[in-house]
Amino acid sequence: MLRNVVKRFGSLTAVDGLDLEVPAGIVLGLLGPNGAGKSTTMRMLTAQSRADSGEITILGYAMPRAAKRARALMGVVPQHDNLDEELTVGENLEVFTHLYRVPRSQRADAVERALRLAHLEDRRDTRADRLSGGMRRRLLIARGLVHRPRLVLLDEPTVGLDPQVRQELWGLITGLRDEGVTVLMSTHYIEEAERLSDEVALMAKGRVVARGVPGDLIAEHAGKTVEEFPAGPDGPAGMEDILRSGEIPTRRTGATLSVLRAEEIPDSLRDTLGRGDTRASNLEDVFVTLTGERVE
Ligand SMILES: Nc1ncnc2c1ncn2[C@@H]1O[C@H](COP(=O)(O)OP(=O)(O)OP(=O)(O)O)[C@@H](O)[C@H]1O
Ligand SMILES: [Mg+2]
Repeated sequence: MLRNVVKRFGSLTAVDGLDLEVPAGIVLGLLGPNGAGKSTTMRMLTAQSRADSGEITILGYAMPRAAKRARALMGVVPQHDNLDEELTVGENLEVFTHLYRVPRSQRADAVERALRLAHLEDRRDTRADRLSGGMRRRLLIARGLVHRPRLVLLDEPTVGLDPQVRQELWGLITGLRDEGVTVLMSTHYIEEAERLSDEVALMAKGRVVARGVPGDLIAEHAGKTVEEFPAGPDGPAGMEDILRSGEIPTRRTGATLSVLRAEEIPDSLRDTLGRGDTRASNLEDVFVTLTGERVE
């Protein structure tokens, strides 16, 4: 899908030789911190932005040359809300049935379906500027699905939503996948990436640094459990040295020292270390191990 893609803004390289393939029918989570290049990647996929070099194909169509054709098969939900404030909910959807070239005879049905999807049937005549934040986001997502796309690009779909609406959207995304739709979703929520994604691509500084099934990546790079120790009187350095001698990876989280693969701490080190608080390893641990950066 993307091969060796580079995008520069002046002296800044936002996307730096990116390779990314999205297999049909899966949810691929693109996880990375602010500025990693997620939105820039999304915009190149929709031909809103042009790559400086590299190749991009979508559902077999070369971009940006065949952008029109690709767009008809692809739904896009941007990170930044761009609803038409002056139009009602129904009208916002209607406009996109035209843009996405839904045949005239199917437009009314497509709008109804999208209203149901967004749970906004009773708001069809409300102007967009009168909706709550969660409703706007649901409308934005439904708008990208109005033409039943085969591929959906969701850029930070749940940012700023309350937990209940977020969970509803998770259900919606999983439902799309179950219908056979391919989903590429960027996020910097670890939990969201872990729960929803069949595979994740960890992105940092314009590149994919690791890619795979979340559970596999976690097992490979962070083991089963993480144990967190409060730093001793000399700070975490002394403990780090001890653990390093046993080749046990660690990371600092503020004043605490997190020990990855804690299940592998040998008994011989236990006397010195004692026991910390144990939790399951997660994608954040993988990310920090590989990049030294945090995601959120
Ligand atoms: N139009 C632009 N002009 C100049 N620089 C840009 C432009 N768009 C993005 N950038 C820069 O490119 C880098 C990547 O930005 P991008 O928006 O792709 O990051 P992101 O991974 O989506 O981050 P976030 O999680 O904050 O949304 C950033 O350093 C950003 O400042
Ligand atoms: Mg972004």
